[in-house]
Amino acid sequence: MKRILVTGGAGFIGSNFVLMQRKDKGAEVANLDCLTYASNLKNLESLADDPHYRLITGSITDRALLRSIFDEFHPGAVVNFAAETHVDRSIDSPGTFIQTNVVGTFHLLEEARLYWGQLGADERRDFRFLHVSTDEVYGTLGPTDPPFTETTPFAPNSPYAASKASSDHLVRAYNHTYGLPTLTTNCSNNYGPRQFPEKLIPLIILNALEGKPLPVYGDGSNIRDWLYVEDHCEAVSLVLEKGQVGETYNIGGRCEKANIDIVKTLCECLDQIFPDSPNKPHSGLITFVKDRPGHDWRYAIDCSKIENELGWRPGQTFESGLRKTVEWYLQNSDWVDSIKSGEYFKWIERQYGQSPAAR
Ligand code: NAD
Ligand code: DAU
Repeated sequence: MKRILVTGGAGFIGSNFVLMQRKDKGAEVANLDCLTYASNLKNLESLADDPHYRLITGSITDRALLRSIFDEFHPGAVVNFAAETHVDRSIDSPGTFIQTNVVGTFHLLEEARLYWGQLGADERRDFRFLHVSTDEVYGTLGPTDPPFTETTPFAPNSPYAASKASSDHLVRAYNHTYGLPTLTTNCSNNYGPRQFPEKLIPLIILNALEGKPLPVYGDGSNIRDWLYVEDHCEAVSLVLEKGQVGETYNIGGRCEKANIDIVKTLCECLDQIFPDSPNKPHSGLITFVKDRPGHDWRYAIDCSKIENELGWRPGQTFESGLRKTVEWYLQNSDWVDSIKSGEYFKWIERQYGQSPAAR
């Protein structure tokens, strides 16, 4: 049985990945997560009695803890999801992004390197360190620019993107200098079950259900490429299994959408599900608010490498994935209630409370 140390596995993508590893891939999983506001233990409730899953509460910046986990769990692979991930928060308070995303990844790489160095020959050959990263490291595109490839130069524009770019460079260096068998994935915007509703899609769903304003930054023309979270997790699993050591793989949905179109599609979806809602048409709740500083205009991913070399294809279309996502938030009111805590309301007030239009 493959033993995977997952970091950040109580968050959005990490928890979907842990569930997939336990339910479909048969791997044993240790999940190291320091349980920030973005995590939710309800995400992994279904594994409560699973003898092949364990949660370790702690940070990737804690060297002594990392060492004891490597010694005791003896992983064959590390998959690093742990990060601060919200661009707006990185503009508001960049320090934690540097601490976790840069310093934390460095400590994890160091402990992985020391552990890997004392493995026997076969285990050394088979060990993998997979670093999960983002398309935001490549910066922003104009309307006619070709999509990002794995060789697009890094040009990160937000503190979040810069912190992820730094961590990607460290991972590359650990492969190049020490031979640590690393893999890096750079993915576009994920959506799906268990995403903290500070991010666009769940924020819009939950606000619309409550008849609250739907905040669209600037004129809503910014473009993102969207991928259903389980398709991202399948891609990460495939890279872990078959990816070529030292390589990076772009992952995306070939699904570019302007923000305003995403919001309108969600509104139409809710109009259909709730034909008698007093908020119908939900598009009447759309409110244009002050733009994000330094807001990247367009992301687009060329994912031919993972398609051609590893045979990956997404399983969901945007329409099917979005419908599943809306249904998940409707069917999981316990989960929704559990995140509506002090921290959630504090952020919403800080980010949107100042804008008279968003009140
Ligand atoms: P998330 O914010 O939902 O979850 C992050 C998790 O990491 C949380 O459970 C949190 O508690 C944990 N964490 C934070 N700091 C930690 C630390 N110091 N030690 C241990 N755990 C820590 O994030 P997500 O959206 O699931 O993203 C996961 C990874 O995927 C990140 O590395 C992110 O950069 C990358 N990514 C995200 C997207 C996206 O659209 N969400 C797209 C591409 C790449
Ligand atoms: O591209 C991958 C990245 O996607 C990940 O690396 C990040 O972790 C993840 O948060 C996401 O970053 P974005 O900034 O693109 O996601 P977010 O959901 O915050 O915003 C999506 C778009 O919607 C972006 O153009 C900003 C806009 N937006 C966002 C919010 C929260 C709004 O118009 N209104 C909002 O209230």
